[in-house]
Parts: sequence; C-alpha cells; structure tokens
Amino acid sequence: MKTRDKKKVRKDVRPKVVVFACNWGAFNQEDYGEIVPPQSHPGINLIRIMCSGRLSPALILRAFELGADGVLSLSCPEGECHYSFGEEVANSNFAVANRIVRILGIDERRFRIERPTKFDPEGVKQVIDSFVRELKNLD
Ligand code: FES
Repeated sequence: MKTRDKKKVRKDVRPKVVVFACNWGAFNQEDYGEIVPPQSHPGINLIRIMCSGRLSPALILRAFELGADGVLSLSCPEGECHYSFGEEVANSNFAVANRIVRILGIDERRFRIERPTKFDPEGVKQVIDSFVRELKNLD
C-alpha cells in the first residue's frame, strides 16, 4: 500500500537524517569518524546505541517529530547480534514503527533498517549515501 507522504524533502538541501548505529556493528569500525565526516554529511546525526533491539518505535517517531527527514538503523549483520536476542526485538520494533509511521502519513521509505558488514567503513558510507539519495528522490 502506497502512503501519501505528508513530509517533503527539499531537493536543494541535504536531508536531515538520524542514523542509529549499533555499537557492535556499524559503529564498531576502526575509525567511525571516517564513516560520517561532518563536512561531507552536514545533515547526518549519528547516534550510537548498544544494540538495535534498543531502538524503540518511540525513539524513531521522536526523531521524525523533531524534524528528521529520514531515520536509518544500522544493525549488526543478520545472525551476528552481540546479545543474540536483539535482532528479533529490532525486527519486531521495526514492524511496529513502520505501521505507526504509515498511520501518521509518513512514507515508510523514510525509515529503514540496514545490516552492513562489520569493519567495512566504506560499505557503511555507501548505505548512508544511498539512503540520503533515495530520500532526496521521494515525491
Ligand atoms: Fe548489534 Fe544487537 S548488538 S544488533
């Protein structure tokens, strides 16, 4: 079901994106400063969380409420959650958040969970860049 998006991203400015990055996954890079250098990603707010399972639907909605154009969750790769149960919780929270986001009239493509390979700053950078590009191209 396609939702009519009530939010619009201005095409001439970089979208404001909140990236919740799991401490043991995407954040656990040799130098995380390389992933999101502030000068090349002015609209990105990177927030470290201890496990993607800790990312509640309320936090996701709060990010949208405070003006985020998109919310990206960078989780551990599938089957590699440091706490083992976090992946299942994250998937469940993601499903709930997705339903609420749709009810609120926000395009569900504005919220995504990704599981980049560990110790791959370039891969993480590509995931973030791709998300930002897609946000800019939303109608
Ligand atoms: Fe990374 Fe749970 S510790 S998803």
